[in-house]
Amino acid sequence: METISISKSILLFLIAIQLGCQLISSSVTYDGKAIVINGRRRILISGSIHYPRSTPEMWEDIIMKAKEGGLDVIETYVFWNVHEPSPGNYNFEGRYNLVRFLKTVQKAGLYAHLRMGPYVCAEWNFGGFPVWLKYVPGISFRTDNEPFKRAMKGFTEKIVNLLMYENLFEPQGGPIILSQIENEYGALDKKYGAAGYNYMTWAAEMAVGLRTGVPWTMCKQDDAPDPIINTCNGFYCDAFKPNKPYKPTLWTEAWTGWFTEFGGAVHKRPVQDLAFAVARFIQKGGSFVNYYMYHGGTNFGRSAGGPFITTSYDYDAPLDEYGLIRQPKYGHMTELHKAIKRCEPALVSGDPTVFSLGAHQQAHVFYSEFGHCAAFLSNYNTANATRVMFNKMHHTLPPWSISILPDCSNIIFNTAKIGVQSTRMSMIPDNSQMLSWESYSEDLTTSVEDSTFTSFGLLDQVNVTRDASDYLWYITSVDVGPSESFLHGGEHPKLLVQSTGHALHVYINGQLAGSAFGTRESRRIKYKNTIKLRSGRNKIALLSVAMGLSNIGGHYESWETGILGPVVLYGLDQGKRDLTHAKWSYQVGLKGEAMDVVSTNGMSSVEWVQGSLIAQNNQPLTWHKAYFNQPNGNEPLALDMHSMRKGQVWVNGQSIGRYWTAYATGDCQRCHYSGNYRPTKCQVGCGRPTQRWYHVPRSWLKPTGNILVLFEELGGDPTRISLAKRSMTRVCADMFEYRPNNKDWLTESYGKTQVIHRPKIHIQCNPGLLISSIKFASFGTPFGTCGNFQRGSCHAPSSYGVVSKRCIGKESCAITISNSNFGQDPCPNTLKRLTVEAVCAPTSRG
Ligand code: GAL
Repeated sequence: METISISKSILLFLIAIQLGCQLISSSVTYDGKAIVINGRRRILISGSIHYPRSTPEMWEDIIMKAKEGGLDVIETYVFWNVHEPSPGNYNFEGRYNLVRFLKTVQKAGLYAHLRMGPYVCAEWNFGGFPVWLKYVPGISFRTDNEPFKRAMKGFTEKIVNLLMYENLFEPQGGPIILSQIENEYGALDKKYGAAGYNYMTWAAEMAVGLRTGVPWTMCKQDDAPDPIINTCNGFYCDAFKPNKPYKPTLWTEAWTGWFTEFGGAVHKRPVQDLAFAVARFIQKGGSFVNYYMYHGGTNFGRSAGGPFITTSYDYDAPLDEYGLIRQPKYGHMTELHKAIKRCEPALVSGDPTVFSLGAHQQAHVFYSEFGHCAAFLSNYNTANATRVMFNKMHHTLPPWSISILPDCSNIIFNTAKIGVQSTRMSMIPDNSQMLSWESYSEDLTTSVEDSTFTSFGLLDQVNVTRDASDYLWYITSVDVGPSESFLHGGEHPKLLVQSTGHALHVYINGQLAGSAFGTRESRRIKYKNTIKLRSGRNKIALLSVAMGLSNIGGHYESWETGILGPVVLYGLDQGKRDLTHAKWSYQVGLKGEAMDVVSTNGMSSVEWVQGSLIAQNNQPLTWHKAYFNQPNGNEPLALDMHSMRKGQVWVNGQSIGRYWTAYATGDCQRCHYSGNYRPTKCQVGCGRPTQRWYHVPRSWLKPTGNILVLFEELGGDPTRISLAKRSMTRVCADMFEYRPNNKDWLTESYGKTQVIHRPKIHIQCNPGLLISSIKFASFGTPFGTCGNFQRGSCHAPSSYGVVSKRCIGKESCAITISNSNFGQDPCPNTLKRLTVEAVCAPTSRG
């Protein structure tokens, strides 16, 4: 007995030592310069791809494109509310299969940065917290509060254990090299005083105590305690320094664009400025950049945060919502990454030496002990190009740009000069039809008597629904005596309804009387309108619609949603009648939701009305359904919802998301790449629906007999809904000719030989598409942007013929920019360019 127990304890001891060694012999560390992996300092380029925002079938393709785009690391948040929908019940299936996602990253040979939060912000419903968390007794989010800390620790441990079990941390041979705890807590920390500081230090200790073997980060947390690395998020991060000299300078969110809200314009960030910001960060000694987002994807279901965040989370990222390459953003950043990587040996060797090259121009020069020299020449002037002298050579620096010289003599990249083609994607209507439309009107007969429950006064929406549905009915009744003067020719009464959001539909005696909507900034809404009452009992039914719970702000868990009043009827003979404290009855969700009409099983439980009646019907609060076959090909698909107004849509029982064709307001006039960027600077889509197309992943479809179900709140014509294929239809290329005094970034030295790269434009259609025509071609001084090019005063008449001959009928073509190619010089002594816009179309075979 004795011997057995002794050998048992020795065995346990040995296992413990081994585990301990495995954990502490971490191969990921850091120093003041960089993250160190297996003893090597690395300049790491990373990109955010959130696994629930695409489908597992899309992951590999997206991740491989990221790798080809020059990324080393994939970053994702972990989304607590999808993994633990109710306390203790976990879901890691399908789009929530975090392990599969990380293994796909690993298979691609990339690293991962896991931002565990569990608070994530991310324009995600409730910032990633499950709504049930709000109802844990005594809880207060993100502060020194025991119930919260217990829950946060429980979930963080759950994730770490799962990933350890799967050997996913780098010291175990897995891809994860970094993890983040909390998210941008710095500002709240200061606001919450001692409780904030205590919570932050607790979170740091808790995370470090999990012994994952890889470093932890805290973003926007100036006082992050050792060994946690504090990191920067923003449009620019070149002014950022970590809180200790022995921590590297990491940028965890380099915003590639911005998110969109319903009713707002779509934000674009010019790639020249993004490249400038990244080069500027690297030249200051930064060693890790993560693009937020590299692929934004889709807020399927009710996952959008908010309120009012659109279903599309495209973000103007290098890979678009559908996972397709966005040019020139993707290509230009890829070229930047190549240029940075060529400087890596010098970049990781030490701090740069900075030289002034002019009033707004600088050189940052890095030297390695092995004789490498790399230089970044920057021009911060927003308006003018400047000629500078560096290393005994003249260089012209475009405004607001950085040139990269990996050998300190040849410029191989300039952030403002785009050398890759631009593409224009279009939504091409597919001719497959939506078949046999049927509709079902949401039943409005619930009365105060037969609803779920009643209460005196108005209740917070989420307290009632627990976010099980976007919809909550508030129903009351008003008795009107036969002698009321408005019944005898007098003025009709007015109803005032004040709500804290997010949208409101007012029904009087079963008829829609009007609607009101909040905005993301002001969630308060006010409805005040004349209503038609009758003598006797009148039913006032208010449908409050939540459009994504807040994901940001101090103690947002306590913010209220829904109709909290006052609700007042004005203009009765007695004066005003305050209904705020009247008897209200509540019905959570829609009848169609309760009967699960979106699923094949639930669908048959209601009476659907045949198609021919629908067009006349055009009713609010109506469910519609139709069948369709999957369009052929492999282009991504989207539903064109322009004929509808507001609601939700499902395909084969899977929620595509909320739709709303609210028109975008904003200023879409100005956009220039130079100067500090802000989201309102470069907007598109003003005066059109903010989001017209809704991504339907192909993997959710069968070849035939797919079922589309939608719920429309306001009324629209479902028979005009169609599917569209997202295809690249236009390709543009544009480049300057080579001239001896304009040779920057066109020459390269290999030892003593100098190679001159004659500039060439390349045009490439997607596989299956051929160049069918040339929409624009000019060798001379053309101007404008892809889609709107125009001839300048100098133009070679042969331009169109030369380009057409080389390109039409081909998948790709290349044309060297030289006078001889175009017959003769159309304007000697003028710097010329070749600009082409080509049309890509399916091959006759395809
Ligand atoms: C950051 C936040 C991200 C995301 C981003 C805006 O402040 O950390 O999660 O919300 O803003 O897209």
